Amino acid sequence: MFIITGATGKLGHAIIEKLIDLAPVNQIGATCRNPDKAADLTALGVRVRQGDFEDVESLRYAFEGATQVLIVSSDASAHRADPQAQHQTAITQALAAGAKRIVYTSQMAASASSAFPPMHNHAATEEVLRSCGVAWTALRNGFYGASGIAILGEALKTGILETAVDGPIAWTAHTDLAEAAAIILTQEQYASGPTLPFTGSQALDFGDLADIASGLLKRPISRQIVTDDELRKKLVAHNTPPQVVDIVLGLYIAARNHEFSVVDPALEQVLGRPPITMRSLMEDMIEC
Ligand SMILES: NC(=O)c1ccc[n+]([C@@H]2O[C@H](COP(=O)([O-])OP(=O)(O)OC[C@H]3O[C@@H](n4cnc5c(N)ncnc54)[C@H](OP(=O)(O)O)[C@@H]3O)[C@@H](O)[C@H]2O)c1
Repeated sequence: MFIITGATGKLGHAIIEKLIDLAPVNQIGATCRNPDKAADLTALGVRVRQGDFEDVESLRYAFEGATQVLIVSSDASAHRADPQAQHQTAITQALAAGAKRIVYTSQMAASASSAFPPMHNHAATEEVLRSCGVAWTALRNGFYGASGIAILGEALKTGILETAVDGPIAWTAHTDLAEAAAIILTQEQYASGPTLPFTGSQALDFGDLADIASGLLKRPISRQIVTDDELRKKLVAHNTPPQVVDIVLGLYIAARNHEFSVVDPALEQVLGRPPITMRSLMEDMIEC
């Protein structure tokens, strides 16, 4: 049985929707912290069970019968929890359930030396997988276009986008990453290890995004660069939690270090079609 965690998150839910097209629905198990939110999946015939990385007992029940477990990485680092410990728990319980393969949603810049803090957790989780004793795949997902659009946020109303010095990012669509995950889950011949970077076909910086948004909204959005120190002070003044300040600043530093700028054909090859472009995502997600 395929077990997918994070079934009520954006990526996890989309993976299950794609997997339903590729595998018998009675072979798909979804886990999430609140199954009431996954009623749509239950209605489709997916086995939905409560599973929380902070609760070992829940995972024992949720992973029952697993042959493969896809662990959607937790967003815990933004909430002061320890995602690395959570992933370790999920891996241990996947193995205890008898899973023969573990697939994990990593990130293209996973590295202990990344300037972007979440990449340290991905690198540490990949290290655990390396010695887990069963087949494993780390999906090296590119940066979500949805995150870039969320960062544009207020600028779409005010016309001023304030960022630190950034760099190009090969933005990706959740639906493309979900489809690739579902395909890879159903193709067990993948060699163990990290995939090539799953990226969009073009790397764009925040100046480029501001230009695209200006074109879509038919009004100017100008970008103003602030220093890292200025940005940090502004975030602190808005009571932004310290770990989130580090994540926001780290994103800009990692981007200008070109941690997310590689454009790789791997995602297109898995999908058998070009990935969704950032412009197309923005057309869909920005209300004109
Ligand atoms: N590639 C990128 O650019 C990028 C950007 C941001 C984040 N990410 C990573 O990708 C992940 C999925 O992204 P998304 O857009 O789907 O985020 P999302 O909608 O915010 O979902 C967060 C996910 O974390 C899971 N989670 C959090 N705490 C958990 C816990 N204690 N036990 C089990 N699961 C837990 C949630 O499961 P439930 O179903 O129980 O809610 C949910 O699936 C994020 O969690 C983050 O690690 C990647």
